[in-house]
Amino acid sequence: MPQERIPNFARMVEPDRVRKEVYTDAQIFEREMERIHETVWIYCGHESQVPRAGDYCTVQIGRQPMILVRGKNGKVNVLYNRCPHRGNMICGDREGNTGEQFRCSYHAWTFQLDGRLKNIPMKSAYEGTRYQAKGGKDNPDCSIKKAARVENYRGFVFASLASDGPSLKEFLGKSIVAFDDMCDRAPAGEVEVVPNCFRVIQHSNWKLFLENQLDALHPSVVHQSTGRAAHEVEKILAKKARGGAAPLSYHMLSAFATVTIDKWDDFQTLNYPYGHCILTGYMGLRPQDPDTLAYDKVMIKAYGKKRFEQIVGVNIHHVLVYPGLSVQSPLQQLRAVRPLGVDRTLTEIWHFRLKGAPEAIYRRSLAYYNLVNSPATLINADDLENFWKCHQGLSSDGGDWVSLARHHGRDIEKNGVVSSGPKMGTSEAPMRNQMKAWAKFMQV
Ligand code: FES
Ligand SMILES: [Fe+2]
Repeated sequence: MPQERIPNFARMVEPDRVRKEVYTDAQIFEREMERIHETVWIYCGHESQVPRAGDYCTVQIGRQPMILVRGKNGKVNVLYNRCPHRGNMICGDREGNTGEQFRCSYHAWTFQLDGRLKNIPMKSAYEGTRYQAKGGKDNPDCSIKKAARVENYRGFVFASLASDGPSLKEFLGKSIVAFDDMCDRAPAGEVEVVPNCFRVIQHSNWKLFLENQLDALHPSVVHQSTGRAAHEVEKILAKKARGGAAPLSYHMLSAFATVTIDKWDDFQTLNYPYGHCILTGYMGLRPQDPDTLAYDKVMIKAYGKKRFEQIVGVNIHHVLVYPGLSVQSPLQQLRAVRPLGVDRTLTEIWHFRLKGAPEAIYRRSLAYYNLVNSPATLINADDLENFWKCHQGLSSDGGDWVSLARHHGRDIEKNGVVSSGPKMGTSEAPMRNQMKAWAKFMQV
């Protein structure tokens, strides 16, 4: 974007409101990709997606098509999906195993699994050319470009396309609890992905999805009808059930009706630098049913009673890792946000298995995945409809600002952490925090 056309981003974001163009302007989107998504740490995938050498999957970081690939030495590499010869994509498939090497389908240049050039057919053709002058086979221009930085935290692989910046741990700060909470709940201390993910393309700006994740005001409105229907059935089943309780999966949906706005207000949001946010309040999924008791036993054996209580006592509903990840760690759910355009956003919806936990606990995660987060559920569909309607409204001339004023002025700031005030769980503090981080990223 030429300098004279760069808008003053600080002016577009006020503490309690944001200009509509932030969501709808294609040039602003391009700058977001450059300054945010193609700079900060972005989640690429879980290492269990590529268990064997040569296993790969493709992923988008900002506007860049990338490859996540397991090398021969066991290390997971993140490479640009582009051949250094004439620019062909190296991997056309979403996932697979490439064997011992990558072989470009256009002119058969071959590459090691870490991107280094292996062979160029008819080498003699390059004598005296720029490639040979710069080191022939060792010429870095002949290798597949790597992501500037790659880090793996407990199996979750992140890449940054910028060589400078905070380390992954510094960047994540307190939001790192999302991955600790998920892995610690596994008796073996780690999780594995359950392939494959759901992919949903929404016709709305990527920030609308992120802002919705910690919007505790919306569930009792948007999801009320689904919650009520589930609650009606839950009551009937509970009457018939011997123990007086319907299966837990009904509760996953009925909670959208029974947890009313004043109850959501009992939760709290914690807002951190770089735009990360946590919504506290576990949804009461620690029942005393036989499956849970069996899981508790395995966990106590693995960790001891004291540590077990600490692990299952972690009080998190949702962690938002800005700018592209929404994690529900107690239920092993993760949604990765991949912006495709100013009004098009892909979400990848993943769930994980706790290694060493009984099968019934995995089934619980799967039930939540299907009932709440999948494209098949009305919960997701109702959210999607609102995202689309928001984008439509924001594209109109019906107003210039988006209001983020709920409980503004009542946030509590301490040591760089902004908490929503007491009994203000439905505060718009998380959206204010995300936009504050956005303005900072964009203005630098
Ligand atoms: S474009 Fe890849 S070998 Fe030619
Ligand atoms: Fe929702």
